[in-house]
Amino acid sequence: MRVMYVAAEAVPYAKTGGLGDVAGSLPRALAEEGLEIILVMPRYYVVDRARYGLKALPLVLSVPMGSLGVLSCGVYEGTLPKSEVKVYFIEHEHFYGRESLYLNEWGQGYLDNDVRYVFLSRAALELCKAIGFVPDVVHANDWHTGAIPLFLNTHYYHDPHFQNTASVFTIHNMQYQGNFYPGLIEILGVGWHHFHMHDLMHEEQVNLLKAGLVHAHALNTVSRGYAREIMLPHYGYGLDGVLRERFRDFFGILNGIDHEEWNPERDPYLPATFSAQDLSGKAVCKRFLQKKMNLPQRDVPLIGVIARLVDQKGVDVIAEALFRLLDFDIQMVLLGTGESWAETFFTQVSLSRPHRFQARIGYSEELAHQIEAGCDFFLMPSRFEPCGLNQLYSLRYGTLPIVRGTGGLKDTVENCQEEKGTGTGFVFYDLTADALINTVAWALRIYREKPELYQAMQKRAMQQDYSWRRSAKKYIKLYRYALRKKGVKLSRQGRK
Ligand code: ADP
Ligand code: GLC
Repeated sequence: MRVMYVAAEAVPYAKTGGLGDVAGSLPRALAEEGLEIILVMPRYYVVDRARYGLKALPLVLSVPMGSLGVLSCGVYEGTLPKSEVKVYFIEHEHFYGRESLYLNEWGQGYLDNDVRYVFLSRAALELCKAIGFVPDVVHANDWHTGAIPLFLNTHYYHDPHFQNTASVFTIHNMQYQGNFYPGLIEILGVGWHHFHMHDLMHEEQVNLLKAGLVHAHALNTVSRGYAREIMLPHYGYGLDGVLRERFRDFFGILNGIDHEEWNPERDPYLPATFSAQDLSGKAVCKRFLQKKMNLPQRDVPLIGVIARLVDQKGVDVIAEALFRLLDFDIQMVLLGTGESWAETFFTQVSLSRPHRFQARIGYSEELAHQIEAGCDFFLMPSRFEPCGLNQLYSLRYGTLPIVRGTGGLKDTVENCQEEKGTGTGFVFYDLTADALINTVAWALRIYREKPELYQAMQKRAMQQDYSWRRSAKKYIKLYRYALRKKGVKLSRQGRK
């Protein structure tokens, strides 16, 4: 089976969150299952051509952009590390020659994000034709590439190149929808008859997420829990009805994690390594982290937070609870960037309670690994969470997650049951400071008064298998489903 996977970011080249992790590791896992897969993304400035040995292809793509006319771009080619997956980077200085992926210096989305990502969507399809890649499936991700299923159903519907091509669309986040002014219809070039409530229109605007939801042959999101939630108004951000209409074609497939990249037994960022059998190195990591963060090197429970500081992650609830939490004998470290009120607030608390709380405002892969390894607990009180990767990294590093039971968090963290001696973390449901504080207090009690249970939970957490293999197999099933839906005949073995 041949697949083109298109995303706005992918590790190791460019990442702002979990989408980057997934786009950089799922294609590799699919290739290991025998698929021929290519990855397509923009060539932002942060994508270092020399470092990754990218080569410019000897071609210029002509990309029809409706009322903007036909625009041209270049293409770089590389290979995804530790794999044979070819990666194609769409090179357009005006659209992608920027340091930050999505946001301007004031933290607002670039005003031309609509055109930038419609361009990516169309360029990816033109690329297939230019390099002679005939995909069985085009797999688009999030609103940035929502126009791809639409284009396959319109401009390319009669194109022989895509006659047997089905589309799959993955929702990584229902909150970010790519909602733009109606005139975008002219740039999409699909005609105004697509501007109605059963198609691209949402709240009188053109909604690119909805384009993907309406037009793809198969849909999924990144956990079963979140799949159920976003069919309800509370979590659906206005598009729950669209998903309810398509519920037969809509699935939940849990993300995996890159077991090589996040491996406590072989993590180059750590001062000592450790495993479920021998946790002694974790204590070294904890002391190292305390020192690095200017916290006293005491034997005290250490709680970590790594997050984009936005409402999704419940950082407002952490902020509300923080002073009461710091009345416990604990230490906390926080790493993140995001809304300016949160950056300021957490920096101030670091100054006023430096022996208990330290925040680092910024982005650091290295510190993220050290926090996952060095902490005793990881706090993630998300308002909603499609999958969440940090709690999966925490499990793997024996750092017990304390999470709100929503979406992927609920699906992956097994709540502590004291009487049975089971669980891999601590789960609460009400999104309130009180619920958060009570649950932290419970976790602290287990840590202090029932160390055997705490250690048993650590071992159980570290033994969970969230590698990509299982999920990759489910994506292959989803691809077959999409092909059947399109009406493409599969060969006897069910494989194309
Ligand atoms: P989301 O995609 O909603 O941000 P996830 O938990 O799926 O949430 O993924 C977040 C990813 O981004 C993780 O790999 C996490 O380690 C990383 N991350 C987020 N903020 C930072 C930061 N400030 N520094 C380093 N890594 C970060
Ligand atoms: C989104 C979600 C996160 C998920 C990630 C990868 O950013 O917020 O929960 O893990 O995508 O699918």
